[in-house]
Amino acid sequence: MTASASWRTHGCGQPRSEDQGEELLLCGWVHSRRDHGGIAFVDLRDRTGLIQLVGDEDSPEEARQSLESLRSEDVIQAGGLLRLRDAENINPDLATGKVELHVRSLKILSRSETPPFEIDDRIEAPEELRMRHRYLDLRRPRMRGYVEARSKANQMLRQVLHDADFTEVETPILTRSTPEGARDYLVPSRIRTGEFYALPQSPQVFKQLCMVGGLDRYFQIARCMRDEDLRADRQPEFTQLDLEMSFIEEIDIQDVVENVVSVLMEAFQGAAPSKPFPRITWQEAMDRFATDKPDLRNPLEIVDLAEKAGSLGFSVYDKVLGAGGLVRGIKIPAGAALSRKEIDSLETAAKEAGAGGAAWCKVTEDGVTGPLARFLEGKTGAAFLGLLDAQSGDLVVTIADQARKAFPALDAIRRNAGELKGLVGEESKVVWVTDFPLFEEGQDGSWTPAHHPFTAPFPEDVPALLEGKCEGIRSRAYDLVLDGVELGSGSIRVHDRNLQESIFSILGISPEEAASRFGHLLTAFRYGPPPHGGFAIGLDRLYALLFGAASIRDVIAFPKTSSGACPLTGAPSPVDSDQVEELGLAILEPSPKEDSPSTSPA
Ligand code: AMO
Repeated sequence: MTASASWRTHGCGQPRSEDQGEELLLCGWVHSRRDHGGIAFVDLRDRTGLIQLVGDEDSPEEARQSLESLRSEDVIQAGGLLRLRDAENINPDLATGKVELHVRSLKILSRSETPPFEIDDRIEAPEELRMRHRYLDLRRPRMRGYVEARSKANQMLRQVLHDADFTEVETPILTRSTPEGARDYLVPSRIRTGEFYALPQSPQVFKQLCMVGGLDRYFQIARCMRDEDLRADRQPEFTQLDLEMSFIEEIDIQDVVENVVSVLMEAFQGAAPSKPFPRITWQEAMDRFATDKPDLRNPLEIVDLAEKAGSLGFSVYDKVLGAGGLVRGIKIPAGAALSRKEIDSLETAAKEAGAGGAAWCKVTEDGVTGPLARFLEGKTGAAFLGLLDAQSGDLVVTIADQARKAFPALDAIRRNAGELKGLVGEESKVVWVTDFPLFEEGQDGSWTPAHHPFTAPFPEDVPALLEGKCEGIRSRAYDLVLDGVELGSGSIRVHDRNLQESIFSILGISPEEAASRFGHLLTAFRYGPPPHGGFAIGLDRLYALLFGAASIRDVIAFPKTSSGACPLTGAPSPVDSDQVEELGLAILEPSPKEDSPSTSPA
């Protein structure tokens, strides 16, 4: 740290034995104070660390009095002589543990009330309280470490992209609706009352416009806003590393993304997977792992049992197969040792994921046991178990249901069984999932884009698409998955205006609606759009994994709660009726504010 010499000569964590005998000036927060037989000891903290100050009878009276009045989190400037600690007082846990500052002068720069929680990594305060007083939370070394690591990581990825000839572009925040499928956050216009800006769900349209603008290689550390159901790894406002490139294939974009991710993994985890990263198609991911974000640290795989399930005389299987559903299972090696309670927990996980239930059996030395056992006698049973290669000691859990419910249930069983048996490896596993379907079917039978409507279909699937077929059309979309977390996604885009209009029409977006929502892109496509594609990495998710943070909220300096509120500022909050009127709006039903986060001092 370079210190302004008039304020301080060192950071609190910097002085070492070599500096003994020097006059130092330090600034920081009082971490703790204790008195021992007339001698005052104060631990002083700043972002570089902690140092012990000592005030004794050799310190000036005024400084001693000030030292005595200090309370936690007061801000002081202390001057004095750096001296070595006596051998028995050395603190090996502290970088400054061999030295202490003998106080000669002390200035109290500001006082602190008793903080609502202790500024100490070892003390867990409730998260809402930490968020309400985020400035205090940020004083803790762990949280400060995340903010600093994030700054460093942003700088590194900018470097990788500048070196690869990318141009950083800032795109608008006040804009029109973008197509990521969540609800928009809207901002009313004062000048054009009754009209609204939408905050960007991503810079998707603008980055494509950058390509039409000939920028060739674009990137941005972009803030995205989505009003959607929040989950543990989602924030209403989050950050993407957004990329777009012209005249490229999938491999070119994936190569750039691999470089960025590898540089960061090496810097923050000490190792990166070898390049190119492994790839599996979406179909293979669903067949083997029942999810499009497989955690490859878990070795368990799904097996299709339909071929033999119909000949067992098990009515549940027969009914599901007759209705076009799936029968699939997982063999859990040595799973027969799991207790009834543990097996029940797997079934509960499957039910919570939407399946009606799970049918299971244990393979033991004395034969097959468990609810499925009576259907597994004889040759047909052996053939069924043969599909799973089940051996004595294994547990087999099966799911019979329609695909929409069966896949999430199998995924839940695989994840839970992997945890229960301690099968999940330590080493991070990254994988590209490619060839996603272009569309996915909703519960009401309607089709929506699996990614967004600008994703290009496989060229060989275009004729079927133009005939209006939605099912089975493959897209040139790809996701990057790290340890079961979707880190990012991207695609080669449609750059042909007619094909883009056909896709809108297949999705039931009328030409008028397409013109009103994306007219600016369609118009741009009249003027020579280059073939292009891109990607977006969810930086909060990537950083949470890289820094080993417990949640994405920890790597965001000022995050929101899971209900989208900001306990620090009290946002969202009511506004003056004048302001509402000026915007041409009327509040019909003010929402009763539950647990209103206070903006007043705690
Ligand atoms: P997508 O919508 O898949 O793609 O978003 C890309 C990545 O952003 C992260 N992400 C989130 N992170 C935290 N909170 C959220 N609410 C949230 N939503 C998404 C995820 C996700 O993989 N325009 C396309 C990209 C493209 O096609 O180039 C897009 O935004 O890590």
